[in-house]
Amino acid sequence: MILQIMKFFLDTANLKEINEARSLGILDGVTTNPSLIAKETINKKEIKNHYISICNIMRNEEDVSAEVISTNYEDMIKEGEKLSLLHPRIVVKIPMIHDGIKAIKYLSNKNIKTNCTLIFSPGQALLASKVGAYYVSPFVGRIDDVSYNGLNLIKEIKKIYDNYNFKTKILAASIRHPLHITECSKIGIYAITSPISVIKSLLNHPLTKIGLDKFLMDYQKIR
Ligand code: G3P
Repeated sequence: MILQIMKFFLDTANLKEINEARSLGILDGVTTNPSLIAKETINKKEIKNHYISICNIMRNEEDVSAEVISTNYEDMIKEGEKLSLLHPRIVVKIPMIHDGIKAIKYLSNKNIKTNCTLIFSPGQALLASKVGAYYVSPFVGRIDDVSYNGLNLIKEIKKIYDNYNFKTKILAASIRHPLHITECSKIGIYAITSPISVIKSLLNHPLTKIGLDKFLMDYQKIR
């Protein structure tokens, strides 16, 4: 049973875009990654404060995924613990690799929320959930890019999680166009994370514009 409408996370580290989504009233959380951080005009020393600035825009249950750079277990857990101490809203993003699985297990045992990223197969999502990931991030658009069907992966993961009542939340990432969003909501997943441009493109329909132009024109005819 779906208890609430699909959440809209913003896939960005840009404060202006996050504030715009807030003012539109559609913001439920934020996901970042090293590529998105690199687009911002900040240096490495400013990254931690930048995460805090993003967290400070969040409200209620909203959270912010911040990704570790390390790729070995010891460093990942140290980095993950440090990230989680930056702000209570931080979710530690961990890549789907051998040591990443161990790090997710360690962090989730310590009640630190994790987002297992770079998910491209149902088996990866199964493993992430088994070790207690709070979110999994399957990359829909990047699967489409290599001529497979990204949305099929979302359906497969949903089926597996439903079979066993896994608590891990599906956060569809690499969202490239409005149909990715509406199809994910038909599948009934917890959330998508998307650039604001794609979310805003949900607004558009040519008949809406034609209809509004006519209403406004007809209003002018009223004496
Ligand atoms: O957050 C990761 C994911 O959303 C990346 O998207 O468009 O770079 O494939 P994209």
